[in-house]
Amino acid sequence: MKFNSARIQTPAITLTMAGALIAGVLISDRVLAQSASDSRYKPQHNAKGELLLPKDHVWRDWPFVGGLVTPNALNDGKAPFPEHHIVHIDPESWAHYKKTGVFREGTIIAKELTRVRAPDGANKDGSTTEVSGTGYFMGDYSGFEITIKSKKLYPNEPGNWAYYTFGHHAEPYSATAKKQPVEACAACHTASAAEDMVFSQFYPALREAKPK
Ligand code: HEC
Repeated sequence: MKFNSARIQTPAITLTMAGALIAGVLISDRVLAQSASDSRYKPQHNAKGELLLPKDHVWRDWPFVGGLVTPNALNDGKAPFPEHHIVHIDPESWAHYKKTGVFREGTIIAKELTRVRAPDGANKDGSTTEVSGTGYFMGDYSGFEITIKSKKLYPNEPGNWAYYTFGHHAEPYSATAKKQPVEACAACHTASAAEDMVFSQFYPALREAKPK
């Protein structure tokens, strides 16, 4: 009898355990999916229509598309965008771009700036000499801008892209940003950017990812 009941119990226990495991996997999948969709950044505006600074530097977690450097020292001490530029795209729009090669409704591209590192003894051209060589290394964060493409939100903007700047200064960045007039931002993007007002010519990740 003992032997028999043990034999009956074993598969029952195994089944229960398998059930628990499957349930566990389903639950943890759901929890993961849930938290992923919850943590997805959605642009928020205040009553005046200004964009709120995204919380927790969320853009720094987004795919990186490219970077460049325009040091003050090579721009008469006043680079228009000082000095390293780091560009990220939101993850959903990145996935969409890789499939379609277009910037979808709701695309957000963030550009953050850092100063070049210039501790005492910087070279004349603003470069520094570090263990890996002489060049322009990253100093502290110094500015943040965002552009959002949305027909729904910005039906009258060129290409439906709206441009916001949270300041060209050290952190903390401004808590809110006004939509910039076309002449301030969009005009230059329209005139010189390679692809739908985005400067893909400077972003290797976008050029590589675009379906041929
Ligand atoms: C004189 C031309 C010019 C003006 C004016 C300009 N930009 Fe740009 N912008 C660029 C260039 C060039 C890039 C490519 C990356 C870089 O150089 O930083 C760029 C890139 C960007 C990006 C990354 C996405 C993209 O389209 O490539 C954002 C976001 C951005 N600019 C925001 C702004 C905002 C906000 C303003 C207005 C306050 C502005 N820009 C004004 C030339 C300009």
